[in-house]
Amino acid sequence: MANKKRIVVYPGSFDPVTNGHLDIVHRACRLFDHVVVAVSQNPLKTCLFSLPERKRFLTLALAPLIRQGKVSVELFDGLLVHFAQKKGAEAVVRGLRAISDFEYEFQMALMNRHQDSSVETVFLMPDEKYTYLSSTVIKEIVRLGGKIERFLPAAIVPEIRKKLRPAR
Ligand code: PNS
Repeated sequence: MANKKRIVVYPGSFDPVTNGHLDIVHRACRLFDHVVVAVSQNPLKTCLFSLPERKRFLTLALAPLIRQGKVSVELFDGLLVHFAQKKGAEAVVRGLRAISDFEYEFQMALMNRHQDSSVETVFLMPDEKYTYLSSTVIKEIVRLGGKIERFLPAAIVPEIRKKLRPAR
């Protein structure tokens, strides 16, 4: 019998995707056969970019891995563990940049384990050059006209600028 494909879900808001997120996807691809990048439709969180925009940015940034069949980008709502079960995923991956991320991530991981103990959470650390990077900080820097090229996938920089600094 062929070996079962090892699938992991990488969930998040991705508002917008940054090179830190892409770093985590690449690391997860080395550990699993397939990474489902799952864009959250959480109605309790206000995002700057719409769901279709966030999905499109990820699809552009991950195009080579999507073509290879290593990655897919999907929208999800409801409980993360239910989505992971539906996808046949054995784990959820989350990035940990610093200790400040830990408490929130620890709480989520243990709550998810309580819902379904067969879905493991795996934490990966992005390259240290992304330690101080977040989607929130990126939005502020773009809005104020700062440099962000190093932190965002090249394909999405013009669109992010257009939305945050219209006609200046
Ligand atoms: O990028 P974010 O906003 O930190 O991602 C948070 C996300 C989407 C992973 C989290 O809010 C989530 O899993 N939402 C789905 C609903 C759910 O399962 N909540 C219970 C987790 S404790």
